[in-house]
Amino acid sequence: MQNKTLFGFGLQWLTKVLIVTVGMVSGEYFKPFNVSYDHRALIIDGQRRMLISAGIHYPRATPEMWPDLIGKSKEGGADVIQTYVFWSGHEPVRGQYNFQGRYDLVKFVKLVGETGLYLHLRIGPYVCAEWNFGGFPVWLRDIPGIVFRTDNEPFKEEMKRFVKKIVDVMRDESLFSWQGGPIIMLQIENEYGNIESSYGQKGKEYVKWAANMAVGLGAGVPWVMCRQTDAPENIIDACNGYYCDGFKPNSNKKPVLWTENWDGWYTTWGGRLPHRPVEDLAFAVARFYQRGGSFQNYYMFFGGTNFGRTSGGPNYVTSYDYDAPIDEYGLLSQPKWGHLKDLHAAIKLCEPALVSAESAQYITLGSMQEAHVYRGGNTSICSAFLANIDEHKTSTVQFLGRSYTLPPWSVSILPDCKNAVFNTAKVGAQTSIKLVDFEPMSSSKSSSPEHLMIRTELPLVSESWMTLKEPIGAWGDDTFTVQGLLEHLNVTKDQSDYLWYITRVYVSDEDIAYWKENAVTPSLKIDSMRDVVRIFINEQLIGSERGHWVKVVQDVELKQGYNDVMLLSQTVGLQNYGAFLEKDGAGFKGQITLTGLKNGDVDLTHSTWTYQVGLKGEFQKLYANDDDESLSWTNLTHDEVPSVLSWYKTHFDSPGGKDPVVVDMSSMGKGQAWVNGHHIGRYWTLVAPKDGCQENCNYRGAYNSGKCQTNCGKPTQIWYHVPRSWLQPSDNLLVVFEETGGSPFEVSVKTVSVEAVCAHVSEDYYPPVKTWSQSSYINGKLFTDQRKPVMELQCEDGYTIASIEFASYGTPQGSCQSFSTGNCHAPTSSSILSKACEGRNRCKIEVSNSVFGDPCPRTVKTLAVKARCKPSLSSSSWYTGLSEI
Ligand SMILES: *[C@@H]1O[C@H](CO)[C@@H](O)[C@H](O)[C@H]1NC(C)=O
Ligand SMILES: *[C@@H]1O[C@H](CO)[C@@H](O)[C@H](O)[C@H]1NC(C)=O
Ligand SMILES: *[C@@H]1O[C@H](CO)[C@@H](O)[C@H](O)[C@H]1NC(C)=O
Ligand SMILES: *[C@@H]1O[C@H](CO)[C@@H](O)[C@H](O)[C@H]1NC(C)=O
Repeated sequence: MQNKTLFGFGLQWLTKVLIVTVGMVSGEYFKPFNVSYDHRALIIDGQRRMLISAGIHYPRATPEMWPDLIGKSKEGGADVIQTYVFWSGHEPVRGQYNFQGRYDLVKFVKLVGETGLYLHLRIGPYVCAEWNFGGFPVWLRDIPGIVFRTDNEPFKEEMKRFVKKIVDVMRDESLFSWQGGPIIMLQIENEYGNIESSYGQKGKEYVKWAANMAVGLGAGVPWVMCRQTDAPENIIDACNGYYCDGFKPNSNKKPVLWTENWDGWYTTWGGRLPHRPVEDLAFAVARFYQRGGSFQNYYMFFGGTNFGRTSGGPNYVTSYDYDAPIDEYGLLSQPKWGHLKDLHAAIKLCEPALVSAESAQYITLGSMQEAHVYRGGNTSICSAFLANIDEHKTSTVQFLGRSYTLPPWSVSILPDCKNAVFNTAKVGAQTSIKLVDFEPMSSSKSSSPEHLMIRTELPLVSESWMTLKEPIGAWGDDTFTVQGLLEHLNVTKDQSDYLWYITRVYVSDEDIAYWKENAVTPSLKIDSMRDVVRIFINEQLIGSERGHWVKVVQDVELKQGYNDVMLLSQTVGLQNYGAFLEKDGAGFKGQITLTGLKNGDVDLTHSTWTYQVGLKGEFQKLYANDDDESLSWTNLTHDEVPSVLSWYKTHFDSPGGKDPVVVDMSSMGKGQAWVNGHHIGRYWTLVAPKDGCQENCNYRGAYNSGKCQTNCGKPTQIWYHVPRSWLQPSDNLLVVFEETGGSPFEVSVKTVSVEAVCAHVSEDYYPPVKTWSQSSYINGKLFTDQRKPVMELQCEDGYTIASIEFASYGTPQGSCQSFSTGNCHAPTSSSILSKACEGRNRCKIEVSNSVFGDPCPRTVKTLAVKARCKPSLSSSSWYTGLSEI
């Protein structure tokens, strides 16, 4: 632990190594320090800092994944980890706190400290976060007289109790900076400015109350509010969005903080997959520091997974990948991660100048080109940012007597006001191709061993599935019958997605005759419904509808006599955004009517309805009680017709190795799945619209979440992450609840790995120097002496470069999937690369004539490489392997 802490500081610009290692007492990760701020930056232990923060939400990963994610954030150049606090997970039942497993917040904060990073803890406790009910426990809505997020006594009492609880836990564990812990900053509320006007004067009072309540808890570090232009003097108002350059806090005593830089976006069931190009993201970040920003957090640096029923919505998918630099499974998403790492290195080189200048000197370089120059009191310290905000044209500008070429929509960073070490639009980082490996899904008892090594495009299936039917309608002792329609959440308390509404209608001979004579079909009309309803008549599924407060009209076939109308109402993630969440509710609104009867419509709204919360299988915990013989599972045969509302189970062996594991549910409809009792989330094969995707994504110009989408015409999500720590070597229990009737025989277990890495680096690309020291910087000689155009390749931890599949120094064409040589090609390319890289986890090579010879003088050459990765025999954890760079 001590070594890691020491190393952590080594990577940061401020070399406080001595302070850290000497006299470290147990539980202290830093020498205690205070955090304050001025108009320019946060002041950490007396020094202004330019900080890069990485958003990671602890419950969206497992504790076993946390060290790797934090380590990869640090290697990517982060100084700070930022997370929300998830009230619904920490207090599932009022007064009963949970800090275990994925909710072990103390452990998470300690890991951040051990890694030598700071922490920004956003308590909220309203967090939005695309999390179920915005992070509020659903019991909160049952507190008499409560109105959320306003000047309302019952709400304020609950909010204060929870926020105080978190602050107390952190203080008791000595996790604040002044105690030697990593927490440097907190947050109260979240994006309240967006909805404040809905609450009138009471909203304004609430903001003041929340600020004073938070500060009054004595946490001893600054608090922020995100998007709160009327934040009181004792709270920093911070920006969120795709761009925050030019943001001004509401006082000139506060620094410019960007709590959420949206580096991607979330996805709904049936939606496309959004991507934010890294060139634009880097542009936004560089512009932010260029124009006076001092703290920027990637929302998200790792997005992860909405396990269980934690995803918000309505209708947000189980994956929360977010197109983040670290993907849902914990693998680097390249070139995003690598390009940002280079950007962060460049910004760190500017830190001495950025923190010593009170403000930037602004210089116009053209109609859409500008420079911001930061000089210290000591004029030998000077850093500059040159921006070309023209979306279309490259521009050559003159700056302090030198000429610089700026691609469209880009920023060049000049840590010494002379040498451009980084341009946001020139990506030198590697890209990677992820492949999914199919694994046979069979238990150790019946698998044929040769299958285990096969890589195939065909799903490998388990032959031994068992099935159990979920009852249609009421099944339990706790059903009840009342007159009228109850609101869904009032009944379920969100203990389950599912609620049965059951009533009975009488159809006379005359009705039947009337329908025949007039060729009329009766129909069931629901005025308004969310999120999904499945309509059963006499236990037969006759239709389903989905949407957010939509009208439903469903033709029904009724028999003479009594007919059972059974509506299976479902939520798919509770609302997480907007004013008056407590009133939002779910299920049905308005009237439910049966139309087309002889004597007119029948209003069922005030009929007698029987209510059944949840599924029998959920109640019986089918997903955990594998050995319960009283459950009547039967073997599933191939000729059985897939049936609605069915449970399925099978067993499978873990795929070998360490690669992330997913279950492919593409053959199924909608439902939920569990592995060894862990709820891996809701699944749904809703397909994204066919159109609206872009073949080529142009990074130039302002980004929005609709700009660069993929996955058109395909199901939004088919792979569901099963963290390795939830698996045992063999005989893992997979339980699936399927609503509509998919085929479990095609469900398969797969691994995700980075099979190939590519790089495409120009001989005029100079990555920022990684081993930089302050003194050599002030000498101002480092760039010319030491910097060389370098290509770096790296396989994931535990992998080595097995072979070079393509290499060309010259004018190669195409991209990673399809490189080809151009007119100019150095014939030695492949052999030089093979020698430098094969058998290694990572390799570096200078991109220049001195290495490859000059295949075409007076032409700017590039080196394109594609290398295949394969698992190495020995593998070390991510951050012990770092010291070489
Ligand atoms: C932090 O500030 C407090 C209050 O000003 C002071 O008492 C304390 O000594 C400071 N701690 C450190 C580590 O500087
Ligand atoms: C500026 O800083 C450098 C390096 O620390 C030092 O050598 C030089 O004397 C300083 N100049 C002034 C005017 O303070
Ligand atoms: C839900 O229950 C509460 C209290 O039991 C009641 O005040 C409220 O009106 C109910 N909501 C709906 C929409 O029925
Ligand atoms: C179910 O299948 C298993 C093998 O997968 C077999 O041992 C068992 O006898 C079968 N049970 C029935 C009732 O067919």
